[in-house]
Amino acid sequence: MSRILSAVAWPYANGPRHIGHVAGFGVPSDVFSRYMRMAGNDVLMVSGTDEHGTPILVQADQEGVTPQELADRYNRVIVEDLVSLGLSYDLFTRTTTGNHYKVAQALFKAVHSNGYMIEQTTRGAISPSTGRTLPDRYIEGTCPICDSDGARGDQCDNCGNQLDAAELKNPVSRINGETPKFIDTEHFFLDLPSLAEPLTEWLGAREGWRPNVMNFSKNLLADMRPRAMTRDIDWGIPVPLEGWESNPNKRLYVWFDAVIGYLSSSIEWARREGEPDAWRQWWNDPETLSYYFMGKDNITFHSQIWPGELLAANGRGAHGGELSEFGDLQLPTEVVSSEFLTMESAKFSSSRGHVIYVRDMLARYQPDALRYFIATAGPESHDSDFTWQEFKNRTNNELVAGWGNLVNRTASLLNKNVGSIPALSDLQDVDRAALAGSEAGFDTVGELIGAHRQRAAISEAMRVVGEANKYLADTAPWKLKNEDPERMKTVLGVAAQLVSDANTMLAPFLPHSAQKVHEAMGGTGVFAPMPQLNEVDDLDLPDRHYPVIQGDYSAAQGTWSRRSVVPGTPVDKPSPIFTKLDDDIVEEELARMRGEGE
Ligand code: MF3
Ligand code: ZN
Repeated sequence: MSRILSAVAWPYANGPRHIGHVAGFGVPSDVFSRYMRMAGNDVLMVSGTDEHGTPILVQADQEGVTPQELADRYNRVIVEDLVSLGLSYDLFTRTTTGNHYKVAQALFKAVHSNGYMIEQTTRGAISPSTGRTLPDRYIEGTCPICDSDGARGDQCDNCGNQLDAAELKNPVSRINGETPKFIDTEHFFLDLPSLAEPLTEWLGAREGWRPNVMNFSKNLLADMRPRAMTRDIDWGIPVPLEGWESNPNKRLYVWFDAVIGYLSSSIEWARREGEPDAWRQWWNDPETLSYYFMGKDNITFHSQIWPGELLAANGRGAHGGELSEFGDLQLPTEVVSSEFLTMESAKFSSSRGHVIYVRDMLARYQPDALRYFIATAGPESHDSDFTWQEFKNRTNNELVAGWGNLVNRTASLLNKNVGSIPALSDLQDVDRAALAGSEAGFDTVGELIGAHRQRAAISEAMRVVGEANKYLADTAPWKLKNEDPERMKTVLGVAAQLVSDANTMLAPFLPHSAQKVHEAMGGTGVFAPMPQLNEVDDLDLPDRHYPVIQGDYSAAQGTWSRRSVVPGTPVDKPSPIFTKLDDDIVEEELARMRGEGE
């Protein structure tokens, strides 16, 4: 048994999330966490909405509301969508809680008092027409490093380097096209060079990371510069230092505070459990394993900035220092990043309408159909493409015709011919081979999920389904009813066991249907637990309430091993688990995407 922190990237609360987002951070983290719980580990899965920074501010301006109103609106939408998808967070909260403000400010102070926040004057951009500060990511120009056009002021997507807007060649504002004006401004910089040694050491000791993620992270070490952790912006967490705290136009950088969310949400979880120190077991114990799930555009912040913040708070860089009030904070075990999902060969784009929101998808299709697509064809270690044709094919040919059919056939044969699960007596070689092959799947599938190879894991689980279908075809129990009813019962008992095995192995991927299959085979109680949306009061701020995702996942019956079927368990006439998709949905969806018919 291990303790495992599942740290899931925090979606921006600046709009509804699309299926590309949940393919990156959502489904993979849930599959992993569900599996780890089933395998007997003590998992803490935390996240929340990321509600500061320019992304929120710009959208709030566009919608004509305050940033807090905007964040409230989309926090709720996102919470609802993630619950519908069945993502089993222990706590999904937000960055505008009293708790998060306190933790983020305390961490800033710890980093500062250990000497890792250096104050520097820099050049900041303002818009000449409005006088407002112009955030780096809203400035565009030519990359000073690779010369590609369209580099943003904070980062060049072409070469992946972090930039300063003032370094861009031919800078223009992405908001209104004007040329920004650069002025002197004071900021705090995280002194990454003084943390380079322990960061290099930490990264060098990591094993089993996806090669893309490791290479990208190692390359970051080659260019370690101090990085600004404060911004000229009026929306965010105040900088907790004299002379700064009361300045309405200086705030902590959104990425500085967002990554602290992993820690603050663990603390909030513990406080809500009534055991305010319980979070320490996931943060201060070197034996605890921590996995961070995200899309690839987030790697820098998880393999460099966040570990840098943790080392600085621990006083473990060239300036020395003391442990903070948070104790000896452990660095990530692994940064698990996926690549990008495109749709019909193009990037998702809300502004161009080339997008499928989670909400719209779930209004028309089963959550497990989407989860299945992401698990089998998602961007695990290469970019991948969502097409409606492939979605329809996989749903119909694999989920409906493969897995759904096995369940349905087995349950209706049992219901019609026996009425309940028969005993597995007088086994023949063919039965023993089928049972052994199926049971072996637990190790294989489990190891693959543990190694973040979910595509291989689910295809292995589906191979077990295929073997079970073959077993039924070979033994043809429907032909045995009259000639050898005892043999028929044995075969159906074996088939029931094969269904049960496959259902357990598929449960991390397909939790909604796992519960239904459990019930179709006569099971009762919770097999695959589901998250809940709860309305809670802020623990620190009066009169503030918000929706969170929580859940009790410990009492569920699904554990990672064969559960022997119980002879005598009644089996009812089944109804289909998965919905077969009509051929027309492909054309319909493509038309919808082109903006026709709505
Ligand atoms: N909000 C960021 C995004 O959507 C992710 C933040 S992850 C965090 O890209 F850990 F920093 F919160
Ligand atoms: Zn570049």
